[in-house]
Amino acid sequence: MDLLEGLHTRRSIRKFTDQPVTREQLREIIKAGTMAPSGLNNQPWRFVTIQNKDLLHKLSSLTKYSHVIDKAPACIVVFIDKEAMYHETKDHQSMGACIQNMLLAAHGMGLGGVWLGEILKSAKQVRELCGLSDQYELMAVVALGHPEGKGGMAERKPIGDVILKEL
Ligand SMILES: Cc1cc2nc3c(=O)[nH]c(=O)nc-3n(C[C@H](O)[C@H](O)[C@H](O)COP(=O)(O)O)c2cc1C
Repeated sequence: MDLLEGLHTRRSIRKFTDQPVTREQLREIIKAGTMAPSGLNNQPWRFVTIQNKDLLHKLSSLTKYSHVIDKAPACIVVFIDKEAMYHETKDHQSMGACIQNMLLAAHGMGLGGVWLGEILKSAKQVRELCGLSDQYELMAVVALGHPEGKGGMAERKPIGDVILKEL
């Protein structure tokens, strides 16, 4: 898939078929995440993959989007390593680039995913579920699987509304 085509056709996928996702696919998606740019190339991202049904169910109880996680064959839980950080804003920007890379990679591989942010309200419980110390701060959960349907067409603002000036 052409890069621009992938970028334009990616949509958040919240419904998945029963088909499993392999550990190799998850690693490929994470590898794409790690190809994101980061300030000073500090690569502050860390990941926990979850495919265990019991753990996915526990994870799902920590968000109002439980129906998404419950149907997903896999989730990648994305953390920032606080010890690797050097600038709060820039490190968070790097994390966003990493997560978007993962969503685009999943799309390019014929998978679908959604960035779950609402679960940040349960950041401590998610971290503890993953068995991690507070060196790691939750950034997002990415639910992944084989798409059931195409996902909604989330409208975008017209380009003229978002360009403030063309000087
Ligand atoms: C920071 C962030 C947090 C998000 N949190 C959620 C979430 O908790 N639940 C959900 O269903 N979608 C979540 N989304 C997905 C957005 O709703 C979605 O990207 C947006 O509506 C545009 O749709 P599209 O991804 O299909 O283009 C989140 C996206 C971002 C970037």
